[in-house]
Amino acid sequence: MGFFSFSKAFDPASDLPDLSDKVILITGGNAGIGYATVKHLARHGAKVYMAARNQSRAEAAIAQLKEEGLGPGNGEVVWLELDLKDPRNAKKAAEEFMKKEKRLDVLIHNAAMLLENFAIGTDGVQEIMMVNVISHFVLTRSLQPLLDQTAAEPNSDVRIVVVASEGHRFVSGEPRYRNLDDFNAEFKNALSPSFTRQA
Ligand SMILES: NC(=O)c1ccc[n+]([C@@H]2O[C@H](COP(=O)([O-])OP(=O)(O)OC[C@H]3O[C@@H](n4cnc5c(N)ncnc54)[C@H](OP(=O)(O)O)[C@@H]3O)[C@@H](O)[C@H]2O)c1
Repeated sequence: MGFFSFSKAFDPASDLPDLSDKVILITGGNAGIGYATVKHLARHGAKVYMAARNQSRAEAAIAQLKEEGLGPGNGEVVWLELDLKDPRNAKKAAEEFMKKEKRLDVLIHNAAMLLENFAIGTDGVQEIMMVNVISHFVLTRSLQPLLDQTAAEPNSDVRIVVVASEGHRFVSGEPRYRNLDDFNAEFKNALSPSFTRQA
């Protein structure tokens, strides 16, 4: 079986279960893979929070989703403000979410910076590390009480889904997360520094 082959065909249109009464939070979701994910989940009845940083892009995406078919009887898509460049925003977004909802069935880590220039951001940490790793960690830890509470309910099936990449297989060396120097590694001498940083 080839590297990119999948073990089994999965058609979200027919293979996803009914998600009515489920509450799902996805980071990003206004574009790319996240957008398609939101569409399928909402079409199966879920209430999906699109945790995105830009209000107009989020609202445009929700309008587009409605145009593509999220009519009455389908789920709902709600924007939740979240810019993952600062982990404080992740904590705040989790708190906002927990004021609004009494359950969280699925948390999806989807948002990511991909092939970007090296940049040091909040608290002296490389932006890609903050967005892709640290703020997602803070978001998850902040939502954990609600995830635990939902998991304790009868017939619940709580999941945390991390959308990741096989890209790390194409770069040499082990990723390290020991200290600030590891977080801020620039990989200047790599064949493709930006690919290596995101992998
Ligand atoms: N595309 C691929 O070939 C591929 C392959 C393997 C894995 N993946 C994984 O799939 C996931 C989605 O990738 P994609 O290809 O769909 O990427 P994409 O089209 O570039 O979408 C990235 C999403 O992340 C959001 N985002 C970026 N920075 C953010 C921030 N600071 N705060 C909040 N949201 C932020 C973007 O929002 P804005 O619109 O505001 O920028 C957008 O919604 C990623 O985790 C990626 O690692 C992708």
